[in-house]
Amino acid sequence: MQTDLTGQVVAITGAGRGIGRAAALACAAAGAAVLVNDAEAEVAEATAQDIRDAGGKAVAQVGHIGSPEAAAAVVDAALEAFGRLDTFCANAGVLRDSVMWKTSVADFDLVIDTHLRGAFTCGQAAARQMKAAGAGGAIVLVSSVAGQRGNFGQTAYSAAKAAVAALARTWSMELARDGIAVNAIVPTALTRMVATIPGLDEHVAAAERGEPIPDRLRQDLGLGRAEDVAPMLVFLASEAGRAITGQCLGIGGDRLSVWAHPAEAGVALRPGGWTAETIAEAWADGLKAHNQSVGIPNLT
Ligand SMILES: NC(=O)c1ccc[n+]([C@@H]2O[C@H](COP(=O)([O-])OP(=O)(O)OC[C@H]3O[C@@H](n4cnc5c(N)ncnc54)[C@H](O)[C@@H]3O)[C@@H](O)[C@H]2O)c1
Repeated sequence: MQTDLTGQVVAITGAGRGIGRAAALACAAAGAAVLVNDAEAEVAEATAQDIRDAGGKAVAQVGHIGSPEAAAAVVDAALEAFGRLDTFCANAGVLRDSVMWKTSVADFDLVIDTHLRGAFTCGQAAARQMKAAGAGGAIVLVSSVAGQRGNFGQTAYSAAKAAVAALARTWSMELARDGIAVNAIVPTALTRMVATIPGLDEHVAAAERGEPIPDRLRQDLGLGRAEDVAPMLVFLASEAGRAITGQCLGIGGDRLSVWAHPAEAGVALRPGGWTAETIAEAWADGLKAHNQSVGIPNLT
């Protein structure tokens, strides 16, 4: 099996609930020993216990992701428990949604600290360990459609998640020589996190009751259960997945996708450069055909 993880060690932050928990269970089922981090002890321990009850290997570690110390503690706990680290998934996240003119600096800082500083500090701690061990590895970051496209009411979150995608692109270049693959998952799942998004709360409640998820959600929005996202981490941790680097890969419900990286959509050249007037003419004469859309398609 090209996606067997036997003998490998995977660390996942925020693995007490939602996508992180489902990914931890899936990696363990594929044969990996799993370091289960979460800020909340009870849910971290519950995930690790469920893995052990199913015959797998897991250890819980409690820590609030965001600082270099918290990131180092995850790596150290994985090494202490299992002696190596092959894959690190920086998944921990929070939402504090509001439009930009109402976003407090405290909420902005919390979201940026958790998602962006968390991805940076965790990725750096993991890369330093993997470089020193010399056996390659995988760093998996978690971006979002909001980060790729922008989303009304998600100022801090979309900024953090766009930056996370940028980290994956840059790190894939910087870590290629060490055989460390870096990718970002762009997941969608009916978890507690999206229950705060208007219109999705009743679908999260229905999914939690075990009711079937309508095709429109699973296919058009890629919204299924956390378990639908989990196989992507198993794949990226595996030998087959480690051949891929620098990508943003979408998964959720019935959808699997490769996200385009930003690229120039329309270009005009003018020897000697541009004036405001010639920019206005170039826009009217052709560049406006390349005007880009924003926002998440199909959400409303
Ligand atoms: N659910 C989606 O549709 C969706 C879409 C795009 C991106 N994401 C991303 O996927 C990741 C997981 O989201 P989810 O939907 O499973 O959310 P969730 O709320 O179900 O689970 C998140 C977990 O992270 C933990 N956590 C929060 N802050 C932490 C911190 N500082 N340190 C350690 N643990 C912390 C929470 O306790 C919780 O157990 C997040 O990065 C989120 O932004 C989710």
